[in-house]
Amino acid sequence: MTLAFQLVDHPLMQHKLSYLRMAETTTDTFRRLVREIAAMLAYEVTRDLPTEPIRVTTPVAECETPVISGKKLCLVSILRAGNGMLDGMIDLLPAARVGHVGLFRDPTTLEPIEYYFKVPDDIGDRLVIVVDPMLATGNSAVAALTRLKQAGVTTLKLVCLLGSPEGVRAVQQAHPDVPITLAGLDSHLDEHGYIVPGLGDAGDRIFGTR
Ligand code: URA
Repeated sequence: MTLAFQLVDHPLMQHKLSYLRMAETTTDTFRRLVREIAAMLAYEVTRDLPTEPIRVTTPVAECETPVISGKKLCLVSILRAGNGMLDGMIDLLPAARVGHVGLFRDPTTLEPIEYYFKVPDDIGDRLVIVVDPMLATGNSAVAALTRLKQAGVTTLKLVCLLGSPEGVRAVQQAHPDVPITLAGLDSHLDEHGYIVPGLGDAGDRIFGTR
C-alpha cells in the first residue's frame, strides 16, 4: 500500500522539528515549538478551504475580496497530548470550536476504550480537524475518527507532528476518506510503540511529567 499523506517539509518546519526531537530541549522550549509547528500545520491543512468573494470598502476604493466559506471548523484533541497542539492551531483559527476525545487501551483486549467525549452539538455540520502529536500505531487515531463518524461527522482531517509508516497505513486502511497531514514521517516503531527516532513521549514532554 502506498502511503498517502501531506508532508509539510518547509525549512522552518524541519528546523523546529529538529529542536523538538532533541532530548535536552526544555519543557518551555518544547511547548513553544509545538505551538509554532501546530500553527504552521493549521496553515497547510486549511489550504483547500473554499472561499467566496465579498465586497468591501477600503480607505481607497470598493473591491471584491475573498473570505472563507463552507463548513465551520471544529478542532478535536485526542487527550492528552493533542491539547499541546490546540493553542498553535487556535492562533490561526480563532473561531474554531474545540472538542476532546479521551481513550485508553484495555490492558487485556488492547482495544481502545473511550473515557471522555465532548464535542459541540453541531459537530456533524463542521469540518473536523483531529489533532494528536504522534501517529504511532494509529490505534487511537482510528478509534477517535470512528467515534466522530458515529457522532455524525462526515468531513474529517487528521493532523500530527510525527507519523510512522505503521500509523499512516492503519489510518489509511480504516479511514481512506481522511487526509493525513504530518510535519515528519519517521522510520518505524520500536517494541514499546515509540516512533523511532521520534521525540519521546509527546505528552510527557509537553506537560513536563517525565
Ligand atoms: N506516543 C508518543 O508520545 N511518542 C511516541 O513515540 C509514540 C506514541
